[in-house]
Amino acid sequence: MRITLGVTGGVAAYKAAELVRRLQQKGDSVQVVMTRSAREFVTPLTFAALSGQRVITDLFSDSSGGEPNLESAIEHIAVAQRTDLLLVAPATADIIAKFARGVADDFLTTLYLASTAPVVVAPAMNVNMWNHAATRQNVEILRARGVKIVEPDEGYLACGMTGPGRLAGLEEILAAVHEVSKAQRDLEGETILVSAGPTCEDLDPVRFIRNRSSGKMGYAVAEAAAKRGAKVILVSGPVNLETPAGVERVNVRTAEEMRHAIVQRFADASIAILAAAVADYRPAQPRAEKIKKGSAPLAVSLEPTTDILAEVAKNKGSRIVVGFAAETDHVAENARKKLASKNADLIVANDVTAEGAGFDRDTNVVTLFSRDGRDLALPKMPKSEVAQRILDEVLRMRSVLHAPAPRHSNV
Ligand SMILES: Cc1cc2nc3c(=O)[nH]c(=O)nc-3n(C[C@H](O)[C@H](O)[C@H](O)COP(=O)(O)O)c2cc1C
Repeated sequence: MRITLGVTGGVAAYKAAELVRRLQQKGDSVQVVMTRSAREFVTPLTFAALSGQRVITDLFSDSSGGEPNLESAIEHIAVAQRTDLLLVAPATADIIAKFARGVADDFLTTLYLASTAPVVVAPAMNVNMWNHAATRQNVEILRARGVKIVEPDEGYLACGMTGPGRLAGLEEILAAVHEVSKAQRDLEGETILVSAGPTCEDLDPVRFIRNRSSGKMGYAVAEAAAKRGAKVILVSGPVNLETPAGVERVNVRTAEEMRHAIVQRFADASIAILAAAVADYRPAQPRAEKIKKGSAPLAVSLEPTTDILAEVAKNKGSRIVVGFAAETDHVAENARKKLASKNADLIVANDVTAEGAGFDRDTNVVTLFSRDGRDLALPKMPKSEVAQRILDEVLRMRSVLHAPAPRHSNV
């Protein structure tokens, strides 16, 4: 896991050094971010030496004190994207208040807003600060938002008072990190076959027919599934996207190549999510030589390609199979028809003409039609979030379809 560790300005900041070591021993990579106040207690050099990575201390310039450049300017977004879990230990009353209110006035607070990763917060402060109504309220706001709070221990505090406020033990913090990351890895043990992108169907050696699919939706599904612990095989048409971390990618070009790649790997998959926009038709007789320019109209005869979703779902056994429907009209009607005729478990349907939906965008507006009759209309959201919702629905379908049959009583 890629953990970003936020260290804030309390006496317990020195304990974060040991935390870095312990996380690394578990195999996690740790990126440390320090607030300005934290640097009054421990130097960034300590964390840089332990983590083997540059410590981030500033939003506007790199930590070497150099001039701001584009790379440092967007670093909070880059770090947000590569963070699997944000841990803040020790967390001051101040950082808890800022997180609760959405203040973004330094690197750590901006990262908190920019990241969608789960968050673990281990507070440490004077007992009166911890018991203050403002802190209590801020902690509850974070908890209600899903942030895992590792309650401070009771005992003798650096300020000379006794009571709750001491940073929880490292074992307890590590256990909270483990628990939260495990809950995020609910697809561990699954093998998920994902298809993405368009296919290209040749007319002649230099021309082909393709559609406007960018592959972004399928790639978002592959990335989300890998982060949730699944083994992911991504069969991809030609797209301009990076392979998500931990994903095995198989490149294909034509509908027939995609079909072959999917059929071959389907047996090993427990879930198949077929998001590719596979050509429905291809030129019946692609020419071996370039078609010459002429003044007469040119007719190209097209033949249907094989329906991959229908072919694999026919004998899917206990696998969950998800198809996509890009529609321009009668979305619900067409999606329900597709669900039944293809023997799929879930159809992700979108009206590609809707605002914020469709090809080559980072957002989508979809409805999930599932086999048990549920229609889940999602508002416009980033494709990364749509991907998470699809995976949630897949797991729900799995539990519905594989639930033990109700027992009939003779009484
Ligand atoms: C010696 C000293 C120790 C401090 N210890 C803590 C502490 O344990 N917890 C806390 O919430 N604030 C503590 N503070 C106050 C914070 O450093 C202060 O609120 C600061 O603004 C926090 O900034 P940050 O949240 O950006 O790191 C301490 C201040 C001093 C001077």
